[in-house]
Amino acid sequence: MQLAKEESLRCRWITLDSPEVKEVDLIQGLKQTPKTLPCQYFYDDRGSALFEQICDLPEYYPTRTEQAILEKCALEIAQTTGTCELMELGSGSSRKTRLLLDAYQQLDRPLHYSPIDVSAGMLKTTALDLLHQYPTLRLSGLVGTYEQALAHLPESEIERRMLIFLGSTLGNLNEQECNDFLTQIQQALQPGDFFLLGVDLQKSIDIVEAAYNDAQGVTAEFNLNILRHLNDRFQGNFAIDQFVHLAFYNADRHQIEMHLLSLQTQVAVLRSLDYQVSLQAGETICTEISRKFHLPTLMSSLEEHTLKPLQVWTDPQNWFALLLCQRGQLH
Ligand code: AVJ
Repeated sequence: MQLAKEESLRCRWITLDSPEVKEVDLIQGLKQTPKTLPCQYFYDDRGSALFEQICDLPEYYPTRTEQAILEKCALEIAQTTGTCELMELGSGSSRKTRLLLDAYQQLDRPLHYSPIDVSAGMLKTTALDLLHQYPTLRLSGLVGTYEQALAHLPESEIERRMLIFLGSTLGNLNEQECNDFLTQIQQALQPGDFFLLGVDLQKSIDIVEAAYNDAQGVTAEFNLNILRHLNDRFQGNFAIDQFVHLAFYNADRHQIEMHLLSLQTQVAVLRSLDYQVSLQAGETICTEISRKFHLPTLMSSLEEHTLKPLQVWTDPQNWFALLLCQRGQLH
C-alpha cells in the first residue's frame, strides 16, 4: 500500500532508536540467575504477527474481553475527555483503538492519534490502514520503547492528551518496574491529561494457564520466536529446536511466568554483541511475566502516582478492567 499525497500530509514519523541501551539490558538479563530476556524482543515483525494470532485464540480471553468492554464504554470515554490527542504505548495493530477513534469521530471531535511501538513494520502498516480508514485523522507514529517514548514525548498539537496502555501490558513489569513506569507516566503527562489503562485481573488459575498454553501451540511459537529474533538481529546461533515453551502460574506472585527450557547443555553466541551464553540441560530463560491484578491495590497505586481513577469498567465475569484516570496536581 502506498501513501497518497493527501495522506502523507496527515502523518509524520519519529524514530527514537538508541539500540545500545536495549543491548545492555539484554546481556544483563542473560547474566542473571535465572536468566531473563527483555520481553520487548518478542516483537519483531514476525513476533507481532504471532501476537495478533494469539489475540484470536479461543483460550486467550484478554483481548476479546477488553474489546467487549471498550465497545460498551468508548463513547463515554470520548465524552469524558473531550478533544484530546490519543497516544498509545505498544499500539501493535491498533485493533481496539479503532473503537475509540470511532467514538471521537461520532462526536465530531478532531482525530489525533500517536501510536508508539518497537515494531516499525507493524506501525507503518497500521498507520497506512488508519489513514485510509479515517479521512480526517492526523497521525504521528513513534518507533521506540516505552521508556524512550515517555522520556521524549513530542510536543502535542492540541492541549489535552490521553495516554493509552491496553492489553494488560502493564503486567509485564514487576512491582518495582511498574512503580517506576507509573512515575514516568506521571511525569510525561500534564495535570488534567488522561491515562487509559487496561489490565487483566486475578481469576481461577486454570483459565489463566490455558491462555498461555493454547492447544494450537501459537504461544509456544511466539515464545520461541524471541530466539529467532535474537539470531537475526545479533548474528546469533540459538538452536531453536533445542528449547521448549513453558508457561505456568506463580500463585504467590499472581503472575504467569513464561520460560524457554533448554533441552540440552548448550552454548549460543550472539556474534555482533561478542557475547556467549551457556545453558545447562533443564535450565530455563524467563522471557515474560504477566501479572494479574487486584483492582483495589492497583487503584491505590495509581492514586499514589497522582493518576486518579475517574471511571472503571469491567466485564460481567470481572476478568478484565479498563480504568480511565486523570493526572492530578502534584501534592
Ligand atoms: C499483551 C504483552 C500483555 O502478557 O498476556 C500473550 C503477551 N504473552 N501470550 C500477555 C502474551 C503470551 C501479553 N501482553
